[in-house]
Amino acid sequence: MPTNVLITGANRGIGLGLAQAYTSKEGYTVIVALRKPDSMPEVKVASGSKLVTVKLDSGVIEDPKKAIEELKKQGVDKLDIVIANAAIGDCFGALSEVDLGNFEEHWRINVLAPLALFQACFPLLIKGGKFIWMSSGASIIDRVPDKLDAGYGITKCCMNYLARYAHYENPDIVSFSLSPGWVQTDMGDRGARWAGMEKAPITVDESVAGITKVIDEANNDNYSGLHMRYDGSKSKW
Ligand SMILES: NC(=O)c1ccc[n+]([C@@H]2O[C@H](COP(=O)([O-])OP(=O)(O)OC[C@H]3O[C@@H](n4cnc5c(N)ncnc54)[C@H](OP(=O)(O)O)[C@@H]3O)[C@@H](O)[C@H]2O)c1
Repeated sequence: MPTNVLITGANRGIGLGLAQAYTSKEGYTVIVALRKPDSMPEVKVASGSKLVTVKLDSGVIEDPKKAIEELKKQGVDKLDIVIANAAIGDCFGALSEVDLGNFEEHWRINVLAPLALFQACFPLLIKGGKFIWMSSGASIIDRVPDKLDAGYGITKCCMNYLARYAHYENPDIVSFSLSPGWVQTDMGDRGARWAGMEKAPITVDESVAGITKVIDEANNDNYSGLHMRYDGSKSKW
């Protein structure tokens, strides 16, 4: 029986790194849920593993359910791991000037969409199945004085709440927030430039190696209900 992993936003950045990491292992069905299915680059697929692509635009509230129906037609009857990775992070600036339309869009993609994904995937999650909510250090309320990215940070903070709530509601699954570090992707490097740096400090490979290890080790007694970091440490809220 293959291990079925569904990853949103897997055509670039951390999501692509995760898709590559799982397809390179034997015995995995890696489902990449993308708003533009033809945007997936070629990845190496190990023997006994396969890559399945399905359309999912996080901005369309019905898309997660439609994607799951499509996957069922293709014979996907269970999910072992779901990584709610797709997000946007371009809402910098002080509260006094933050663009409200942009703020609302961040709320839709970073909070509502992961919840819609959770609802759609829940019936297929196996007992002990893992739902990972990709979070961020920007979500940490203690770090507010360092930050001027209210729009993005607040959405990840709210998503953390969902992750913890899902854990307490559903003792049969593993649900936790996971922060990937500050990573050299379009999003990470944009934030780095905004902070006056050339690029983000860690590579996609470093982040993905940590993330996959944390997900492998995760169970109800260790990480579920928490906000974890890619290096296996526990994050503040
Ligand atoms: N990079 C960092 O330093 C960092 C730090 C903390 C947390 N994170 C979190 O890590 C995750 C991945 O970030 P990243 O750095 O890899 O970002 P990225 O390089 O900007 O990639 C974002 C991904 O999300 C997808 N996405 C955005 N809007 C979407 C929509 N409406 N529907 C479907 N997919 C959509 C993008 O697809 P398209 O190509 O179609 O746009 C892309 O695949 C995010 O949850 C982010 O918040 C990143």
